This record gives sequence, structure tokens and C-alpha cells, in this order.
Amino acid sequence: MFKSICAFAASSLLLASASLHAATDQGVIVIKFAHVVADNTPKGQGALLFKKLAEERLGDKVKVEVYPNSTLFGDANELEALTKNEVQLLAPSLAKFEKYTKALQVFDLPFLFDDLEAVNRFQKRAKGRQLLRAMEDHNIVGLAYWHNGMKQLSASKALQLPADAAGLKFRIQPSSVLEAQFNQLGATPVIMPFAEVFDALKNGSVQGAENPWSNLYSKQLHTVQPYITETNHGVLDYMLVSNPRFWYSIPHQVRTELEGIIDEVTFEVNRQAEAANQADRARIAAATGTQIITLSDEQREAWRKAMQPVWQEFEGVIGADVMKAAQIVNRNKRD
Ligand code: LMR
Repeated sequence: MFKSICAFAASSLLLASASLHAATDQGVIVIKFAHVVADNTPKGQGALLFKKLAEERLGDKVKVEVYPNSTLFGDANELEALTKNEVQLLAPSLAKFEKYTKALQVFDLPFLFDDLEAVNRFQKRAKGRQLLRAMEDHNIVGLAYWHNGMKQLSASKALQLPADAAGLKFRIQPSSVLEAQFNQLGATPVIMPFAEVFDALKNGSVQGAENPWSNLYSKQLHTVQPYITETNHGVLDYMLVSNPRFWYSIPHQVRTELEGIIDEVTFEVNRQAEAANQADRARIAAATGTQIITLSDEQREAWRKAMQPVWQEFEGVIGADVMKAAQIVNRNKRD
């Protein structure tokens, strides 16, 4: 009896640990990479490039399966699935980690970063790098930051000044900072998975949203939003994440190769993201039915003034040190 209890316990342990270790298919490590956007976006291209390089260089040891457009997991369950090792790589927007760490909400603060280059500097410095490890207690490890781009406001009516947004419902990602940002405008924020945004804008259950150009174009959101205001008011970037029990169970040599590939892919994604967004902006500008509204300096300043009180509200939870490190990168453009 004792023997069979021991055997049972041992086999359950083995099973439990196998489920968190490198998923193997006849000795090949299978890495499922799920995300919620289209292939023709910075993240979509990054996922495909990772697959290509990993299979070219480690083809007999590693197989990468890419699932775009929320086809395997979506916003509602992908992080939980990662911690259970049902998927091994994700690259959620930085706005989607609030449940696991508050510090990453620094990226959601409106008008904090002047541009994507400033975001890049912050991500490369000590504080930014530290944040990659902020969720290890939750079995989530950050492997890299990937850029998408700065966000624009789209709506069913022309938004020139902050008061124009009052009374409208805006779809947001699940972030208290973004919720507060729209509350500041007298608008109503509505948390919604990315996969549902097109239909919600089309049927009018929300009247506006905030997205980088690449997400607007790849999901054709501009076809259901007659106005897009070029606010560049915040950033939408990603953290490439795995679960550490899986990641560190990959044999050292293979993992080192994969980490080198991730560095290469990160370099490419981040080098091309801005250009990809500008190309999609041009496509939207050329399309009929959507007007791009550019703001004068005074108008942009009015948006900044309306949204910026959010900084103070969140300084306590995000951490004054993190916010300070983020603000410095706008001024110091050296690296
Ligand atoms: C969103 O939900 O708007 C974005 O996080 C989607 C994405 O991954 O770019």
C-alpha cells in the first residue's frame, strides 16, 4: 500500500513538473507563441521572425507555433495560460500586467514619454530592465521589450480639444491608469478585449478608442471610426514573456541560442516599429471615410493638461523612483 501511494505521489509529481517543463514532441521542444494582433504588425512580424530564426538554427531541437489574432488565447486568459504552461511565449501590451505588478503602469501614464525613442531609452536603463523581473513571483519572466508605437485617439466625432471627448465611451485595455485618463476627460472607459474592439466600434456600444496606427490599420478600425486625432499621448509597447519554470527547464545551450535569437528579433522589431506605424498612418490617410486630425501645439498642450493629473494619482502605486527614471529619459538623449 505504502509502495503504491509512493508510486502514485511520484508519478503525480512527475506529471506536474512535466507540465511546467519544456513541452517536447519526440525530443523537440515545442514553443507555442500566442498573441492578439494580426501578422502584419510589429508584434506579429516579431513572432514570425522568432519562429523562422529558431527553426532555421535549432530545427532539430525546437519547434515554434505562432497563434495570432487571439486564435489560441485572448486577453481574458492568456496570462493565466502562460503561468500554467499551456502556452510558452506571449507579448502582451504593458497595460495588461496590472494584476501581477503595478510598476509597469508607468508605461500607461499619458504624456510621460516624448516619443518612442524616449521609451526605448527607459527600457534599456537599469530601472526598465529591473521591471522585466517584476513578476517572477507570479511565474512570469520578461525576456524583452518590443515596441509597437504611440497611441492615437479615434472617435465617432472630431476630437480637437479634451472637452470634445466628454460623454463618449472609450474602449480601454485593463489598466487603472487608462481608466483614470478617460475619467479625467469626463468620458466613460470600458475595458474590453482587443478581439472585440472592431465590433464594438461598429455597433456603437463604444464610440472611441486609443491605438497605435498599426493596430488601427491591421484591424481596419479606421473604417468604423470617422475621426482619428494624432495625439501621440501615450505608448503601446509589449513585454515578451515566458514562464520561468518552463524557460529555465530548456537545456542551457538551446536556451542561450534562443536568447540570442530574441535579441536579434527585438532589435529588428524595435528598428522597424516606427516605420511600420508611419506606413499604416499613410494607408489610413489615403483611405476614404476617415479624417486624421492634427493638433496645434496649444491644442496638444490642452490634452496634456487635462490628462496629466493622473500622474499624481498613481505615483504612490507605481513608485516615485520608477516615474522619475522614466521622466529623465526625455531630457537625456545620449544613449
Ligand atoms: C490592445 O488590447 O489594444 C493591445 O494590447 C493589442 C496589442 O496587443 O497590440
